[in-house]
Amino acid sequence: MKGIVFTELFDMVETHFGLEMVQNIIDDAQLPNHGAYTKVGTYDHKEIYRLVGALSQRTDTDANALIKAFGKHLLQTFVASYPALFENSSDSFSFLSGVHDYIHVEVRKIYPDADLPHFATIDHPDGSMDMVYTSSKKMYALAEGLIEATMEHYNEAFRLDKEFIEEDGSKVRFTISKK
Ligand code: HEM
Repeated sequence: MKGIVFTELFDMVETHFGLEMVQNIIDDAQLPNHGAYTKVGTYDHKEIYRLVGALSQRTDTDANALIKAFGKHLLQTFVASYPALFENSSDSFSFLSGVHDYIHVEVRKIYPDADLPHFATIDHPDGSMDMVYTSSKKMYALAEGLIEATMEHYNEAFRLDKEFIEEDGSKVRFTISKK
């Protein structure tokens, strides 16, 4: 996982819980590099789970809820860093349906060793859309936060349902309906 994901997690933790919490979870997680991440470096994605696990224990908050909140935070940083990617889409569904074939393809140009998930999108006659997430990283909660924040970014009222196709979270179907 790219270092930028770790540095953004530390940013979010610092904003919500303070700098001391960042240091505490780095200590708790007993990371090989003691929390020194560079944006372009590549690190074991399990370190994210160790950091979030430590935060979950210290804040008594469900780890998946924290990962989802992190997804929402990440989307806001993407909007700030790459506004053109969002301006190119007139609504949430056109943005989300381009994540796999366009957005993450652009990401790979910046970070050639990025390890990205697979998304398949399916439009339904009733106007809803499925996004099927597949990744051995099982970061479906991150995807959930990113999708919710995208809907909010485009100011669209929505309902989001998820169905585990694989019980371990490596394949999850999100159904997004506009209200
Ligand atoms: C401008 C928008 C976006 C940018 C710049 C972006 C960029 C990235 C980057 C840099 C990574 C890390 C790759 C790595 O560490 O190797 C990543 C991972 C990921 N992205 Fe995106 N992304 C965007 C939008 C989205 C959206 C809207 C979703 C969900 C619908 C999404 C879902 C994910 C997930 C779930 C991962 C974690 C990796 C995994 O589960 O296998 N991304 N993205």
